[in-house]
This record gives sequence, C-alpha cells and structure tokens, in this order.
Amino acid sequence: MTIRLGGMFFGLALVGVLLLWSFLPDTLKYSTPEKSPYYAFHEDKLPPAGGFSFDGLGGKWDNQQLQRGYQVYKEVCRSCHSLKYVAFRNLEELGYSEAEVRAEAASWEVPGLDEYGEATLRPAEPTDYFPSPYPNEIAARASNNNALPPDLSLITKARPDGSNYVYSLMQGYVEPTEEDLAEAKELGGGVEWETPVGLYFNEHFYNANIAMPPQLYPDLITYADGTEATTEQMAQDVAAFLTWTAEPTLVLRKQTGWYVVAFLLFATFLGFLSYKEIWANKKPKKKG
Ligand code: HEC
Repeated sequence: MTIRLGGMFFGLALVGVLLLWSFLPDTLKYSTPEKSPYYAFHEDKLPPAGGFSFDGLGGKWDNQQLQRGYQVYKEVCRSCHSLKYVAFRNLEELGYSEAEVRAEAASWEVPGLDEYGEATLRPAEPTDYFPSPYPNEIAARASNNNALPPDLSLITKARPDGSNYVYSLMQGYVEPTEEDLAEAKELGGGVEWETPVGLYFNEHFYNANIAMPPQLYPDLITYADGTEATTEQMAQDVAAFLTWTAEPTLVLRKQTGWYVVAFLLFATFLGFLSYKEIWANKKPKKKG
C-alpha cells in the first residue's frame, strides 16, 4: 500500500516538474539566432491567407499548386539554386504522366560523357537528379557576391516553420520604416543603420541583410494553368513545392497517423477484454 502511494506521488511530482518546465519561457520554442542590431528589423514569418492545403491533420497536397511551384522553381530559382535530392521521375507524384516526365527531363541538360569519354552535356533521363546550376562551390560564390545559394531540396526542413518561412522570405524585400531605422541606430550605439553594398534588406531574414536579390514581382512568369502570377501566388506556390521536395511523404504520414490511432484504440479494447477474461474467476484473498 505504502509503495503504491509512494509511486503515485513520485509520478505526480514528475508530471508536475515537467509541466512547470514546459511553461518556462523559451523551453518549447525554437532557438533564435544571436541578436545583432540589425535583428531589430527581423519580422516573424507569416503564413499565407488561408494557410497551405497540407496544413493540419487532414492536410492534402494540391497538385495544381505543386505544379505551379515547380514552374516557379524552373523559371526563376533554378538559375542559382540546385535541387539535388529530387529526381525527374519524382515529378510523376505531382500528377504528370510518364511521357510528360520524360519530355520534361529531356528539356534539362545534365553532365555526361561523349563517345571519347570527354565531359559533355546530355539531355536528362527521368532517373537523373536535378542538375546544379554551377559546376562547384567556388563558381557559385563567385557569381553571388561570395554567398552560397543553398540547395533547396530540404530548405523547408532546415528552417523553423519552413513553408511559411520561404513564403515570407520571398516577399520580405521592403523598405525599413523610419521607426525601424531609429531603433536600429539606438541598438547599434548611435551608428546609422545601412544595408551593406551587395546585400538586400529583407525583413524576414534573420539579420535583415540577405545576399539573394529580390526574385518575385507580379507577372514574372506565365502560369501554364492560367492562374494570375501575383507575387504572393508565386511565393505560396514555390513554398508548397519546396515543402513537397523536403517531405514528399508528408500527407501519407498524416494519413497513416489516423490508422495508427485507430489500431491503438482497438488494441486497447482487446487489452481490456483480455483483462476481464483473465481476472474473471479470481476472487480477492480473504484476510485472516
Ligand atoms: C540570382 C541568384 C538567386 C536566385 C535566382 C534565387 N536565389 Fe535564393 N539565394 C541566393 C543566394 C546568394 C542565397 C544566400 C543568401 C545569404 O546567405 O545571404 C539564397 C538563399 C535562399 C534561401 C535561404 C535563406 C536562408 O534562410 O538561409 C532560400 C529559401 C531561397 N534562396 C529561396 C529562393 C527561391 C524560392 C528562389 C526562386 C523563387 C530563389 N531563391 C532564387 C540567390 C538566388
């Protein structure tokens, strides 16, 4: 009896400590980068109006949107960013037919060898992975003011709240307000705040100075499905596409979750029945 009570109290105490700990500030939050004076400009990411189709427990991919997002990657981001963990054949998951994927792959060039064994370029096959726009890191940095455009395959996983982050970042090129500038000046010990040459002010980048120039502006591309190409639309579509590249099984994972919960409930029910069965004939021992 005492052991049981002791155990209960110990358990309660543990739960209590855990609860208290989780309410401490910053416990369950993502760590944020060190704050610099520039950090004063940093705005938290914002989700698109209405959220993404894959949000929530019943979320689903919107293939039309993923195809549009692929178009944005192909026509805009591809010139600087690789997508090295995605193969052309994966595009079939976005609703393209096998023939369409084959034709799409053939419109890209990947490194290959000619009949003399010399390095050359050949049309891609569906089994090829997306090629890098630069031959190596030095070339990539040389073209980008010494900054390295990261591979985008896993970027939405590599940043907290990645889908909303990419969506916000693409639209974060604004002018800092007078108040922002005054605040940054104060934080910086009276030094006038300026965006360094070759960098761009972006209110969603962690230190507000990003080496990537603004990318999206209205009607930059013409969507194959006729959707109007507003900046917001393209930002949302490319963010959705990059969420898919990082976790193509996201929707499947959520669906499997429901089956697992249903199975666990069923297993609990079975456990309850067998408990009844096993203890049915046992009577408590008479004290005496
Ligand atoms: C002209 C080249 C160029 C193009 C085109 C370009 N980017 Fe970038 N991008 C860069 C560079 C350079 C960086 C690195 C920035 C830095 O570290 O300051 C970068 C960084 C990023 C990052 C990472 C930011 C972070 O948190 O580290 C994302 C996300 C991104 N780009 C998305 C895109 C998307 C989406 C597109 C297409 C709509 C695109 N980029 C087109 C050059 C480019």
